[in-house]
Amino acid sequence: MPDVTLTTLHGLKAKGEKITMLTCYDATFAKAASDAGVEVLLVGDSLGMVLQGHDSTLPVSVADMAYHTACVKRAAPRSLILADLPFMAHATPEQAFANSATLMQAGAHMIKIEGAAWLAETITRLAERGVPVCAHLGLTPQTVNVMGGYKVQGRQESQAQQLREDALALERAGAAMLLLECVPTELAAQISQAASVPVIGIGAGSATDGQVLVLHDMLGLSLSGRSPRFVKNFMAGQPDIPSALTAYVEAVKHVTFPATEHGFSA
Ligand code: KIV
Repeated sequence: MPDVTLTTLHGLKAKGEKITMLTCYDATFAKAASDAGVEVLLVGDSLGMVLQGHDSTLPVSVADMAYHTACVKRAAPRSLILADLPFMAHATPEQAFANSATLMQAGAHMIKIEGAAWLAETITRLAERGVPVCAHLGLTPQTVNVMGGYKVQGRQESQAQQLREDALALERAGAAMLLLECVPTELAAQISQAASVPVIGIGAGSATDGQVLVLHDMLGLSLSGRSPRFVKNFMAGQPDIPSALTAYVEAVKHVTFPATEHGFSA
């Protein structure tokens, strides 16, 4: 199977085939997910919660991200590796350049940054310097303390309009991909239609160009014992983890996941 590149992802969007993404933090799961056909492995700062046991992603450092990116890189021969800039790692464009360089040198092919239109200049300058950027909009866990909790974003029309404008502004600034977390299904559909770059969703309905889930969530593992409504446990009915990963890829490709009940209304 050929390597997955940004061109592959743009091609999948162009032909209407859904893109599959899962978080991944270590070599063994990187190989398993890659073997199952997951196109993008996201070394997410969710590792602060699922691996490190923190109650938010804020304590995660660039060094943590680089370590896990390198672990994933060693075992994922064909997947595209997307790595998160953690909390405050892109507070200024200069910090974003230096910290993106660290993650790219650890093995990332693309960097994900949480934010909104204020990121436009940083994204333009990163893209000019050879760093493709995925802009993460909607529920941005690094700003949980500003948002007052992990809440669906864009339910009011004014918020929805802001999200539409921010998404398109970041695409114009040079974002190579967008990721929408916990936004109403209809809003995510509008943004996916309007954007010419791939739009990946989590808790954003089935009309986005691709889907991502946190690996531990989709394997039915949870520290708190609760799982968000947009999660489906793909281990249910499967004999082993490779089968669950394959079931996820098939469900995303055939648009049987996410179902209506995994999404949010306005
Ligand atoms: O860090 C992460 O795992 C993420 C996903 C929730 C999209 O950003």
